[in-house]
Amino acid sequence: MYSMFDCSLCLARPIGWKLVNYSGLTDLRGKYAVCETKFPVMFGVRSMTPAARVAAAIDILDLWIAGDPIEKLLTNWSRRSRFAGSKDRAALRDLVFAALRNRNSFAALGGALTGRGLMLGLLRARGDDPDQYFTGEGYGPSQLDANERAVPVSSEACDFPDWIVPDLKSALGDEFGAIERAMRQRAPLFLRVNSAKASVDKVITALATDGIDAQPHPLSPNAIEVTSNPRRFASSDVYHDGLAEIQDVASQAVADLVPAEGRLLDFCAGGGGKSLALAARGAKVTAHDISVARMKDIPERAERAGVKIAVCAPENLSAQKKFDVVFADAPCSGAGSWRRDPEGKWRLTQERLDELLRSQSEVLDASAKYVADGGVLAYATCSLLAQENQDQIVSFLRRNTDWAVQSQKHFTPLQGGDGFYVAILARG
Ligand SMILES: C[S@@+](CC[C@H](N)C(=O)[O-])C[C@H]1O[C@@H](n2cnc3c(N)ncnc32)[C@H](O)[C@@H]1O
Repeated sequence: MYSMFDCSLCLARPIGWKLVNYSGLTDLRGKYAVCETKFPVMFGVRSMTPAARVAAAIDILDLWIAGDPIEKLLTNWSRRSRFAGSKDRAALRDLVFAALRNRNSFAALGGALTGRGLMLGLLRARGDDPDQYFTGEGYGPSQLDANERAVPVSSEACDFPDWIVPDLKSALGDEFGAIERAMRQRAPLFLRVNSAKASVDKVITALATDGIDAQPHPLSPNAIEVTSNPRRFASSDVYHDGLAEIQDVASQAVADLVPAEGRLLDFCAGGGGKSLALAARGAKVTAHDISVARMKDIPERAERAGVKIAVCAPENLSAQKKFDVVFADAPCSGAGSWRRDPEGKWRLTQERLDELLRSQSEVLDASAKYVADGGVLAYATCSLLAQENQDQIVSFLRRNTDWAVQSQKHFTPLQGGDGFYVAILARG
């Protein structure tokens, strides 16, 4: 049998591959390859077997459990594993991220918080036969032992860190269980149609020509959910022509609730996702962030979208006239987006959360100073925790008694997108 790791001529583990031509043999594709360091493309060479992908995920997860960051592990693996094609890398990433999202429940189903335990749990949760993967043959993981086979297949666990469960239960009430289960799944890919350039229908039709299926989403009028081939979006004409941007649907719904009138300061603009949405609705947006580096792509993104966004460094902000609308999309735990950043869920600590709570109240106080008379302040987080959301607003109102809440809204993954909170405030 052909092995994807060993060179079929020198039997060494190669850095790259090259097909060779043998006289007398007519069809060499996928059968003969020699290692060739200067030619790392494998034409016709088979991709990794499903069992080999599971074995690679086990190695990576063991290192992650030991403390290494997941993106670094995946990047290092790709550099080392030149035999792996893009499909292998994507499949491995999917396995590893599913294991991170479901860390506790997979460990319970697999009998151990180890790479092997997590992958065994994943296969059992999917209803796959683990013996088809844990074969002990080729590059698959070794066969299951008696202890692994004895783990009850009904084992259950909660996939939020233990220390945060009481806070989430009190914030989410009866929806806690359903939200916890929803957050075990991968987040869908959502796009925001750039209403300055195209309609939702036009973008859906244009995506179809690139083999990407998409449909409107009820949470926001310009939102569409990609239902097939999400990885093709980055190379699609729709993306290159600035007709749509990747943006979570609840993030879009939050931006929809911010009044897009007159001069608007996006106080925590980051990469500018919400600045772009607000500019597309007609606001004159000034983007600001404590980190100028985070805003570096905003001019290029704005140009592609055909909108204007001024970028203001922190040292220049005090020279600006006050704004009609100030939007503070505050730094937060990211608890609402743990489907997309499952590592963040396990890295969050009480100390880090306390730091974030302090930053949020500083951001609220600092951003309120830039609101003109008669203007509004909008505060948002992508968190599900009350202490980052309504509790922050209650404290702000205690410190600033001339302000009042006009409206507030929560979003959870049960509506399809990330968890978000937004409050609109005005001087009373
Ligand atoms: C949730 S992110 C913003 C995401 C962004 N609005 C978007 O839609 O892509 C929070 C941002 O707040 C910034 N930040 C943190 N502390 C800040 C402060 N004191 N003043 C202004 N920005 C701050 C961070 O650098 C980070 O980019």
